[in-house]
Amino acid sequence: MRTPFVAGNWKMHKTVEEARLLVSEMLDGLQAVAGVEKVLCPPFTGLLPVAAMLAGTDIGLGAQNMHWEEEGAFTGEVSPRMVAEFAQFVILGHSERRAYFGETDETVNKKVHAAFKHNLTPIVCVGETLEEREAGQTEAVIRRQVEGGLAGLTSEQVASLVLAYEPVWAIGTGKAATPEEANRVVKDVIRGTLAALFGEETAQAVRVLYGGSVKPHNAAEFFAQPDIDGALVGGASLKADQFVAIAQAAADTAG
Ligand code: PGA
Repeated sequence: MRTPFVAGNWKMHKTVEEARLLVSEMLDGLQAVAGVEKVLCPPFTGLLPVAAMLAGTDIGLGAQNMHWEEEGAFTGEVSPRMVAEFAQFVILGHSERRAYFGETDETVNKKVHAAFKHNLTPIVCVGETLEEREAGQTEAVIRRQVEGGLAGLTSEQVASLVLAYEPVWAIGTGKAATPEEANRVVKDVIRGTLAALFGEETAQAVRVLYGGSVKPHNAAEFFAQPDIDGALVGGASLKADQFVAIAQAAADTAG
């Protein structure tokens, strides 16, 4: 059995003061949700204050990106050692990083290896653009992203990481994929690729999330799908009541 997993990707939102307010609004509600792994991913400047508020709770903390080098002359970058001071998770290869900041399967792969070196659990994002989908390339794109992003890992490492299927056209658009279609991609393409590369047992052990316009009103339908183990939530993770409701839906559906 895979433990459900719900992560909030705050993206480039929330100052320290705003972050503290948001966490204080959701802390009790989130802690009351049992049987679900819950993770908050504020921007870098929010990691320290949010870590302080989450100490002693069952809520995990993640970064949204990092460099793969330990330290050095990389102006503007944050290293895995720095992230690991506060966080247990790191989102890698988000489509916004791929689209706006030149991330490739190769750089994602370096970051994934660096995450394991520093005991961070990567949340690796994959997903096709609308153009790729319309050209019938969904499967090929996702297979390439999974193969490239996870190259050189052991089966044990793969089993312990988290993948997020986020069709790019569904992110921040209010247009979610249908739960059945998302499940088909997760089952046939993502788990299928994992099985071919790392074995069926590993493919069944990996938690795979859906992301892209997950809201309280549609979350349960995704969580009811057999191959979807949770959600990576953007916009709705910035609203305390909505994020708690989504985490609760994961608990209820898994229950
Ligand atoms: P969204 O973002 O929930 O706002 O669509 C999801 C994500 O990009 O992780």
